[in-house]
Amino acid sequence: MIQVLINLLGTIPSLGRHSFQVAFLSAQIAEKMNLDSSYAFLAGLIHDLGLILPYEGKTLLDEIDDTFVIVRDTPSKPLHLHSILGSFITDYVEKLKPISPIVLKHHFPASYLDKTEENLISNIVFISDQVSRYTMVNLDASPRDIIIALEDMKSFFFPEIFEACKEVLTTEFVQWQLENILEGSSATDLLQDYIRNCPDCGKKDLIQAGKVVSFIVDTKSEFTTSHTWRVAVFSEKMAEKAGKNSEDLFIAGLYHDIGKISVSYKILEKPAKLSDEEYAIMKKHVYFSYLILLPKKDEGWFFPAVRHHERLDGSGYPFKLKEEEMTLEDKIIQVADVFSALLEERPYRPATPVKKALDMVYEEVKKKKLSQEAFELLESSLKDLDLSSIEVGREIRKEIRAFVERVVEKFGNYVL
Ligand SMILES: [Fe+2]
Ligand SMILES: [Fe+2]
Ligand SMILES: [Fe+2]
Repeated sequence: MIQVLINLLGTIPSLGRHSFQVAFLSAQIAEKMNLDSSYAFLAGLIHDLGLILPYEGKTLLDEIDDTFVIVRDTPSKPLHLHSILGSFITDYVEKLKPISPIVLKHHFPASYLDKTEENLISNIVFISDQVSRYTMVNLDASPRDIIIALEDMKSFFFPEIFEACKEVLTTEFVQWQLENILEGSSATDLLQDYIRNCPDCGKKDLIQAGKVVSFIVDTKSEFTTSHTWRVAVFSEKMAEKAGKNSEDLFIAGLYHDIGKISVSYKILEKPAKLSDEEYAIMKKHVYFSYLILLPKKDEGWFFPAVRHHERLDGSGYPFKLKEEEMTLEDKIIQVADVFSALLEERPYRPATPVKKALDMVYEEVKKKKLSQEAFELLESSLKDLDLSSIEVGREIRKEIRAFVERVVEKFGNYVL
């Protein structure tokens, strides 16, 4: 699961590089201080994930672009919206819960914190964040420059953390790894070393995380508010009818478009038909889904998820597979995906009514693009489904808002 997260971050260049640097440095400092380096690594990795979670219809990373790295901290207002949103994500997934308060407080100066292990780690993430931001803006900075810059903010950190950070930064190993990440290498093996001890998530957590993923993907474009969720629910039901593993198909549905997180907002949101070039970029989301989900290749849901744009006659993408090369599970999600997309409004066409959408899917069956068997499963599944109630976005949105309100009540208002 953590590897999936690393891969996802790897497809969002500036956020990825920053997160890997912070994760690595946090783990090094924690190790030096005999604190739990796996937690520090994980907290560092996730600390800015809130930047990609939509709030009030917007996503911070798109709004503030890549300049999030040069935002200055104001000690009098240490609570940031992205910290709250990141804290929400981690709170939502059982295994990540212990990270949640650390993420929340990763811009809190030491004066706001008593010395629990949790707070020490959040302060470690904070100092690592400052180092990373400095190196990303001042590309030629020497370790000495970094330390001089840190001296200015010394009061933000617990003295022992400040000292440990300074010490760690003087080692070549750390300098080279930070440099290497900045140059675009995630130096996977080195990162792997830390995730070995990270808690691994079971199916339940995978589904919880998948709900957040589906919310991010769907909210990224205002035209697909519950697409992913529908695909998951349709596929699950169809698999159940076919006597296949319905939970796997549900997960495949939740994650199938995860690669869209890596595709520019402007293309997903474009209020017109895409140009050929834009369409090609859009299609690439399925390649990103493949890359991101690859660590889960052995699980039953992986292939259906990454084959949702294949077609029986070989005209699909990205593998141009033929009918006989695919399983019924693959064919189920293909039908669910097309059907679900038709039900939604698009910038260039209105939503299609259910009956007409079914007819249109059947047209594709006749053209030998989609599977007859999967189509019949869809038809019979529809009888059991209440289409109007298929909407997870609304619920998560409500939960996020309640979470933000709770945090604000406790710590005061946030800055962007
Ligand atoms: Fe941050
Ligand atoms: Fe950060
Ligand atoms: Fe897709």
